[in-house]
Amino acid sequence: MAAQLESSGDLQLPVLRRTAARLRELLGPDKEVRRIIDLGSGPGVMTCVLAEAFGDAEVVAVDGAPGLLERALARAGRLGLGDRVTARHAELPEGLVGGDEHGEGGLGTADLIWSSKAVHHIGDQQGVLDALAAMLRPGGLLAVAEAGLPMRYLPRDIGVGRPGLQARLDALLEEWFEAMRTELPGSTRVVEDWPAMLGRAGLSGTGSFTSLLDLPSPLDETARSFLHGHLTRLHETMGESLDAEDHKTLGLLVDPEAPEGILRRPDAFLLSATTVFTGVRPER
Ligand SMILES: C[S@@+](CC[C@H](N)C(=O)[O-])C[C@H]1O[C@@H](n2cnc3c(N)ncnc32)[C@H](O)[C@@H]1O
Repeated sequence: MAAQLESSGDLQLPVLRRTAARLRELLGPDKEVRRIIDLGSGPGVMTCVLAEAFGDAEVVAVDGAPGLLERALARAGRLGLGDRVTARHAELPEGLVGGDEHGEGGLGTADLIWSSKAVHHIGDQQGVLDALAAMLRPGGLLAVAEAGLPMRYLPRDIGVGRPGLQARLDALLEEWFEAMRTELPGSTRVVEDWPAMLGRAGLSGTGSFTSLLDLPSPLDETARSFLHGHLTRLHETMGESLDAEDHKTLGLLVDPEAPEGILRRPDAFLLSATTVFTGVRPER
C-alpha cells in the first residue's frame, strides 16, 4: 500500500505542482508562508512539492502510519529538502487537539494546511475541518482534496467479458467506501458540501478547483504498474463480490502474462480529476 500510494503520487506530480502554484495564488503573493501542515501526508509526495513551492516554509508531514512518515522523510532527504521537512506521528482526531504555535504538545498553527484524501478517514468530518480551521493563522489557507471523479483507465468494451466493468467496479468501491465510513469511530453523516462545511468552520472566500491528470494510451511502465497494483488490490479485496464473469475478467486484467492484461494491453490510459476545496481564515 505504501509503494502504491507513493507511485500514485509520482504519477500525479505535474498535477500536484500545478496545485501548489494555485495555492500560492490563493494565498496572495505577499502572504508570508512559514509553516505548512500536510495532514494525512502518506509517503510525503505533496509534502515535498509544498516544500519546493514554498521555499521559506517548514513543512510538517502528519500521519498515523509511522512507516509512511519514514518514507516522507526519506523522500525529503533524497530531494535535498530534509532541513525543512519534519514528520509528526498523530492519530486523528485525538492528535489535532492542543499545541503551541510551533507544534509543541500538538500540531501547532500553520499558514497553509493541506489534506488530501485523509479527512474522509475520520468519523466526524465537520469536526476535523473545525479543528483545522482553528489551527490556521490569520490569513491562512485550508485546502482539502476530497472529491473529483472516479479514475478511468479502460474503454467501456475491452473485448473480454461483459462491457462496463469499470462502472461496476466503481459501484463496489462506493459501497466499500460507505461501509468504511460507517465503521469509523464517531462516524457522523454530513451533507458533503465541502465549501459549506468550510464556511461552517469559520473560513471565508470558500471555493474549489479541479485538476485533471490525463495520460493517454499507450501508457508507460510506471503508469501500467500503478494500474496493475490498483487492480490487484481490487481483485484481492473485492473479487468475491463480483459475478463470476467479471471476476474472471479482472483475473485476466491482473495476469502479467495475458495479452489482455493491464501490463500489456495497448488501450489502457489514465484519466483522473481531483477537486480541492479551499477557505481562508479571516485576518480578524
Ligand atoms: C488515502 S491516503 C492519502 C495519502 C496522501 N495524502 C495522498 O493524497 O496520496 C490516507 C492517509 O491518511 C492517513 N490516515 C488515515 N486515517 C488516519 C487517522 N485516523 N490518523 C492519522 N492518519 C490517518 C493514512 O495513514 C494515509 O497515509
